[in-house]
Amino acid sequence: MKLIKILLLFVVFQISAQQGGMWIPSLLEGMNEQEMLNLGSNLSANDIYDINNSSLKDAIVHFNGGCTSEIISDSGLLLTNHHCGYGAIQSHSSVEHDYLQDGFWAQQINDELPNKGMVATLIIRIDDVTQEILQNIPSSLSPKDKLKMIDQNMAKVKAKAEKDDWQETRVKSMYDGNQYLLFVTETFKDIRLVGAPPTSIGKFGSDTDNWMWPRHTGDFSLFRIYADKNNRPATYNEANVPYQPKHFLPVSLDGVTENDFTLVFGFPGRTSEYLPAVAIDQLMHNINPPKIEIREEALKIVDQYMREDDKIKIQYASKYARIANYWKKWIGENQGLEKSNAVAKKKAFEAQFQEKVKDNKDYANLLSEFDKLYADIDNVAVARAYWSEIVYRNIEILNAAVRLFQFERQLIKNPEKFEEARKKLLDSYKGFYKNYNADVDRDVFEKLMQLYKDKSPANYLTSSVKDGNVKDLSKMVYEESKLSSLEGMETLLQGSKEEVIQKINSDKGYAFGKELVDNYYEQINPKFNEINLQINAVQKIYMKALVETFPDERFFPDANGTLRVTYGKVKGYNPRDAVYYEPVSYLEGVMEKYKPGDYEFDVPKKLQELYNNKDYGVYGIDGKMPVNFIGTNHTTGGNSGSPVIDADGNLIGLNFDRVWEGTMSDYNYDPEICRNIMVDARYILFIIDKFAGSQRLIDEMKLVHPKKK
Ligand code: ARG
Ligand code: ASP
Repeated sequence: MKLIKILLLFVVFQISAQQGGMWIPSLLEGMNEQEMLNLGSNLSANDIYDINNSSLKDAIVHFNGGCTSEIISDSGLLLTNHHCGYGAIQSHSSVEHDYLQDGFWAQQINDELPNKGMVATLIIRIDDVTQEILQNIPSSLSPKDKLKMIDQNMAKVKAKAEKDDWQETRVKSMYDGNQYLLFVTETFKDIRLVGAPPTSIGKFGSDTDNWMWPRHTGDFSLFRIYADKNNRPATYNEANVPYQPKHFLPVSLDGVTENDFTLVFGFPGRTSEYLPAVAIDQLMHNINPPKIEIREEALKIVDQYMREDDKIKIQYASKYARIANYWKKWIGENQGLEKSNAVAKKKAFEAQFQEKVKDNKDYANLLSEFDKLYADIDNVAVARAYWSEIVYRNIEILNAAVRLFQFERQLIKNPEKFEEARKKLLDSYKGFYKNYNADVDRDVFEKLMQLYKDKSPANYLTSSVKDGNVKDLSKMVYEESKLSSLEGMETLLQGSKEEVIQKINSDKGYAFGKELVDNYYEQINPKFNEINLQINAVQKIYMKALVETFPDERFFPDANGTLRVTYGKVKGYNPRDAVYYEPVSYLEGVMEKYKPGDYEFDVPKKLQELYNNKDYGVYGIDGKMPVNFIGTNHTTGGNSGSPVIDADGNLIGLNFDRVWEGTMSDYNYDPEICRNIMVDARYILFIIDKFAGSQRLIDEMKLVHPKKK
């Protein structure tokens, strides 16, 4: 990978509209630094990442594993999305004080609410350890044995890494295993809820507006990192104090205009930008369509029940949102891949590649190997998609059976842990059945089982599904089994270890679930893994070949949950012929969408008043209140809550979504139509100050006017 670095360094880089890429913060010097300057930034690579001095990276925090957040005061005030804090906000809510509906604002520091199990992680240092990881691995080894050795080397590198006692280490593979980086991290464990707007602001537009522009959502919430008296990570303790960061982001009051430089700094989860055409083709035509169809059928049924029954509406709101989120994303993704001719473009590129490598014996067969392997994996990959969407995700009772299966397996392995495991399982079932309705689930079961039977590859179906009748199966699972209620489950789990094993195994519903889970672990998964391992091995060589063959191209490592920098400009786009989308939305648009009493588009009275009086304080501009804006930053899931930073290192926005036409960016980033969606920092300040009246929070931030130098 030294090679990659050197190649990147010597590329004579031309400024163009071409952006995209998620770059490693410790490797920005050279090409990225120059490109950022060309885009209008005043930041040096060292301003962004520096291990000797404080830098922007010291304010960027991985939020509870999945999202990003950033520190915006010298007292550890943490900003992230409302949808990232959603679970925590919900967990503090009850009928008496519903913080989802009404919002929550800690009046004083003592009112800030601890969250059990919540963590926030800072990156202390990133080291390139490729040499240590890849040295002495014979190329003759099988892919499996290579991975084993790599794991051993990783453990060694982690063990001897320089760090303080309270810090952790992780090694992550980049460029499909061509580069390895060591991350030294610090994980804080006392994270308290500070503030959240009501859902009618924080989730305004809900599923209808999700993945869409124009957008009008105040998708933010506030937390605070607490540390022990030495400013180090500690589990919750009343005596803990606000964390004093090495760096925090000042908040700009000057806002954005089209073409302004933007930098998004966060923890993108996963992209696959270097797949061969054959893989994209398979995704578009064989994998995404069944997943979309399955979720569509399930959502239709749940939606019907939710409309007719308020209790079901509450029970299923969060589950519905989760299922709908990726359902909608895949539809947009497929449309985008189709419209941008992603497969044809990749094929044209591959023809060029093939021409260049035709005499290189290591690379000449890569594409044909891909063709063969993707053909081999197709059947089992489709079966796996059906299984995970139907058995694991959308038929809830089968998901309950999966958990029971895992419990039983554990029991056989560690019988002495029976009591502990049973308690854990029962606890998890309590949460599960609280939001469970067997009538809803039974309808979903009947619909999806029929689909499974009719459409999933027959060679991976179990005999009950293949030969059985769906009505009979559902009668068995919902009437002749104890799985459909918490009480039933509790009776199954009562008694001694032997009794429990005997009882669950004579339950017909569990027997059916177990047959399906067994089928996955015995048939589907091993076959899939066997071929996938080979695909990964070819992908690793292909990645190396790409970099060597196209020295003038830019290659960033696919997202893998590690800290990345992406940058671009504030910019509108043409979603279709003759239509242009402006890059900034305003409070006017909130009022245009307002539907009194609607669960997605209601607007709080107070916000309407502020709008009617144009009472925007210092946050509005020309009598208008900006709400959201879009830009050309290349982001993905996990970037939610990432700070949007201006040319001088100040916070101007909060990333939370992407536009419909560009959700394909995970496979094919196209600067023409891929846009990320951000909340304008001024809207956040306006809601905290004017809407919530939480002056104490405004006071602890550092508000700046970078454009009025
Ligand atoms: N689409 C965004 C993301 O993938 C936001 C999801 C949360 N909002 C929602 N309406 N479900 O996370
Ligand atoms: N909404 C996503 C997230 O939660 C961001 C995205 O996929 O663009 O991370």
